[in-house]
Amino acid sequence: MRSLLARFPRAGFASLAAGVLSAALLSFGSGAVDKPAAPAPDPRPLQGVASFQSVSDKAERSRALFTEAAKVITDPRCMNCHPSANRVPTQGDDMHPHVPFINAGDSGIGSGGLSCGACHRADNTTLAGARLIKSIPGANPWLLAPHSMGWQGLTLGEICGQLKDPGRNGGRTLSDIRRHMSEDHLVGWAWHPGEGRRPAPGTQQAFGALISAWIETGAECPS
Ligand code: HEC
Ligand code: HEC
Repeated sequence: MRSLLARFPRAGFASLAAGVLSAALLSFGSGAVDKPAAPAPDPRPLQGVASFQSVSDKAERSRALFTEAAKVITDPRCMNCHPSANRVPTQGDDMHPHVPFINAGDSGIGSGGLSCGACHRADNTTLAGARLIKSIPGANPWLLAPHSMGWQGLTLGEICGQLKDPGRNGGRTLSDIRRHMSEDHLVGWAWHPGEGRRPAPGTQQAFGALISAWIETGAECPS
């Protein structure tokens, strides 16, 4: 890919990316068994903060609140952008490596000329007539989370520790974390992820309330 790219002038990148993309779509489409690609509606509700009031021990309540919020955090819609072993985003509910292969590098947007924005636009792009990939996810900007914020393969306790560590969470206070979870555009994308993709459980508002309550009860981490 890199040597191929090196032979293309700058203006050619977008069309090359489109070519790579349609090649990927075509190879996906051929050989595929003809069955509906749209996933079933989300069967996993997110419990509200009130469900945890009965847990009298505050630290225990805090851990239970985090564990509930982690239904969202560990959802593929979030995890696909928070890999830990490498800089390769993953795709789909099975979190397979990104097709076509892309290395997001330190910048999070790719290197070697092919960047996320070549395919991912400011909004989800519906692909009319495509059989397996119904849409390309989009948000502005669209990029991979930094290596220090990788979650795939971590335990809930480890993810919780990462979120609280300013050395690895982008220098954020807990209040910044709360704001990011409740308001960030990439977090919000997880509840309107485009056609053919199942949204994260619950709503961003319910998720934000769980995170707030987790912080108010001491931001305890499950083991
Ligand atoms: C050549 C086009 C192309 C480029 C470049 C590209 N992507 Fe993608 N990406 C796609 C397509 C198409 C999909 C949808 C695949 C599907 O749904 O099976 C996708 C899906 C994803 C998903 C999965 C969303 C989900 O929850 O299933 C993530 C995450 C992602 N891309 C991140 C990135 C990042 C980060 C970059 C840049 C470092 C990038 N992509 C560059 C085409 C591209
Ligand atoms: C398209 C990719 C993408 C998706 C999808 C995504 N994130 Fe992120 N996430 C990022 C990037 C990039 C950063 C770094 C932003 C920064 O530091 O300003 C980040 C940072 C974070 C942070 C900051 C602190 C830390 O320690 O990790 C939190 C919290 C977070 N994301 C939560 C989520 C949650 C929850 C979801 C799903 C509901 C989600 N993200 C989905 C790309 C993504």
